Amino acid sequence: MKKTRLYTSFFCVLFVGLTSAFNNLTSSIFEETLSPLFGDSNLVRSPDDRSVRLLLDRYTGSGFISSNMYQHGFFSAMVKLPADYPAGVVVAFYTSNGDVFEKTHDELDFEFLGNIKGKPWRFQTNLYGNGSTWRGREERYRLWFDPSKEFHRYSILWTSHKIIFWVDDVPIREVVRSEAMGGEYPQKPMALYATIWDASDWATSGGKFKANYKYAPFVADFKSFSLHGCAVDPIQQLPGSDSDPDCADSDDLLRSSDFSTITPHQRSAMRRFRQHYMYYSYCYDSVRYPEPLPECVIDPAERDRFRETGRLTSRGGR
Ligand SMILES: *[C@@H]1O[C@H](CO)[C@@H](O)[C@H](O)[C@H]1NC(C)=O
Ligand SMILES: *[C@@H]1O[C@H](CO)[C@@H](O)[C@H](O)[C@H]1NC(C)=O
Repeated sequence: MKKTRLYTSFFCVLFVGLTSAFNNLTSSIFEETLSPLFGDSNLVRSPDDRSVRLLLDRYTGSGFISSNMYQHGFFSAMVKLPADYPAGVVVAFYTSNGDVFEKTHDELDFEFLGNIKGKPWRFQTNLYGNGSTWRGREERYRLWFDPSKEFHRYSILWTSHKIIFWVDDVPIREVVRSEAMGGEYPQKPMALYATIWDASDWATSGGKFKANYKYAPFVADFKSFSLHGCAVDPIQQLPGSDSDPDCADSDDLLRSSDFSTITPHQRSAMRRFRQHYMYYSYCYDSVRYPEPLPECVIDPAERDRFRETGRLTSRGGR
C-alpha cells in the first residue's frame, strides 16, 4: 500500500483513453529470435519459452541478444523490474552493434537505474551513432507506475527517419533525424539486447547507493517479445548501411506502421509525460552543450523549468 502512494494516482489518469497500437502485436518465442548472451546460469526460460527471467546475484548478471541484427526495426517486450532494494542494479533494454563495430557503434537505450527501497525506479534513454560515445544524449525520467509490480511494455522504434521510445502506449521521446546529425544518427544494423548487471559505481544517485546482495537475487522478467525489421546476416551483409536496397521496403513498412505514427492524443500524453516525469534532458544542459544539439526541439516552458536544474552533475544524476 505504502509503495503505491509513490505513484500519484492523479497522473495515472493522464494516460487513459489512448488507443493501443500494441494490442495486436505478435509475440515470438525465445528460441526463434533470441539467444543467451552471458551469465547462462542466471538466465531462466519458462517451459513454454515465451518468457525469460534474468537474475543478478553476487557472482554474475545475465543477458540475452537477438539472433539477428536488423537494419531498422521495432523492438518491444513486456518487462517487470526487480522489487525491494534495487540500488546499484541496472536493467538495460537496448539495441547496439558494439560487438561488430567497436569504434563506430550505434546504440539506442532504455536503462533502468535502480533506486533505494521506497523510492521509485528511475530510468534513462540515450542514443549514440557511429561511435559518438563522447557525446551523450541522455534524458532521465521517473514513471507513473511502479515498474516492479507489473509488466509494462517498453518499445524502441528505429526507422531511417526517426526514433521513438515508447512506454506502454505513451511515446516518451521522439528523435527526428536531421541532416546536421550526420553519422550520429544510428545507421548500421543493430541487435536487440537485454541485460541485468551491477552498476554500483554510478547507477543510483551517482554511485552513492550500492547493490546490496542481502536482497539478491535481483530478478527482471521479460515476455511478449516483438521484433520486426529487416533481418540481416551479420557476417554476409555487414557493414550494411541505410542505403541497403534490400531493406528499403521493410523501412517503408515500419515508417507507415502504428508505432511510428504519433496521434494527437498520444502527442499530448507525451507532452504531459515530459512535463511531469522528465527530470533531465541533454537538450537543456547548457553547461554541457552551450548550443543544443541539432535534433533538439526546444520547448520554452521546458527550458525555464530546467534553467536551474538541467545539469547532470554526475553519471548518476541528482
Ligand atoms: C487488431 O486486429 C483486429 C482484427 O484483425 C482489427 O480489427 C483491429 O483494428 C486491430 N487493432 C489495431 C489497434 O490495430
Ligand atoms: C563514421 O565514422 C568513421 C570513422 O570516424 C568515418 O570514416 C565515417 O565516414 C563515419 N560515417 C558516417 C556515416 O558519418
